[in-house]
Amino acid sequence: MSSVNDQQARFWSDLAPTWIRFESELEEISKLPGLIAMDRLELAPGQRVLDIGCGSGSTTLELGARVAPSGKATGVDIAPEMLAYARERAARLGAGNVDFVHADAQLDSLGESAFDAAYSRFGVMFFSDVVAAFANIRSALRPGGRLAFVCWQNALENEWMLVPTMAVMSVTGSPPPMPEPGQPGPFSLADPDRVRSVLAAAGFEGIDVVPHTDAVVTREDQIPDFARRGTQVGAAREALRDAGDDTRRRAVEAVEAALRDRVEHGEVRVSRSVWVVTAST
Ligand SMILES: C[S@@+](CC[C@H](N)C(=O)[O-])C[C@H]1O[C@@H](n2cnc3c(N)ncnc32)[C@H](O)[C@@H]1O
Repeated sequence: MSSVNDQQARFWSDLAPTWIRFESELEEISKLPGLIAMDRLELAPGQRVLDIGCGSGSTTLELGARVAPSGKATGVDIAPEMLAYARERAARLGAGNVDFVHADAQLDSLGESAFDAAYSRFGVMFFSDVVAAFANIRSALRPGGRLAFVCWQNALENEWMLVPTMAVMSVTGSPPPMPEPGQPGPFSLADPDRVRSVLAAAGFEGIDVVPHTDAVVTREDQIPDFARRGTQVGAAREALRDAGDDTRRRAVEAVEAALRDRVEHGEVRVSRSVWVVTAST
């Protein structure tokens, strides 16, 4: 593995235990947008499909189910800790047509024309050279192969992340360290024009970038769980990186209060906005 994405590899390896612990809650945020992008691939049994930045593997398992019994899904990720969990889960579920490969999707060969389709759920925003990464992904696709992924629109359109982050900032008194525009991070592909130009520069054709916005709905009695999770991932986690126990406790209380302020009819709704992107080789 090369070193230009080492910082991301360390970041995701460090986050993996938290990611796995909160997996079912994080699925509530990611699942629906991920399925919308996956449906765009119109996968059929027998196909070979690549899952980029597969994390703990839930989408790889779903891709495997869609191409079973003769097809195969391969998840790649830069963080070995994520893959260890994904492999263990696939074995537990007896999913025989998935495998997981430790690789940097930007730099490591993913195979020449080895896949009919490539997919990612929020796993393609962390490359140091995004054009090189998508060119590498493209070379792993057969001629006429399809790409579909989902990435975040900007933070203002994503209250599920913005509300906890603002509440934490009200406690810490300073904004979390954020990547410069265009640098690797959850919002690096938030500009749809950038998505189009990156994919075109990487050699993709038929590029389609479609917005999807809805709400994440949480019952009032689940607010404490939402607040705990909301301070352990994303920008709120970064804002609390060096915080002591007291600051952390006050941050969770502040997030809870911010969410309770928004309760209507026994539930709180926060916006979620993504780009659903498709292209072909
Ligand atoms: C936001 S998580 C998404 C995980 C998973 N797709 C999901 O939806 O649950 C981003 C994932 O991308 C992986 N990642 C980041 N940079 C990568 C790279 N250069 N090559 C492969 N995977 C990478 C991270 O390790 C992490 O698991």
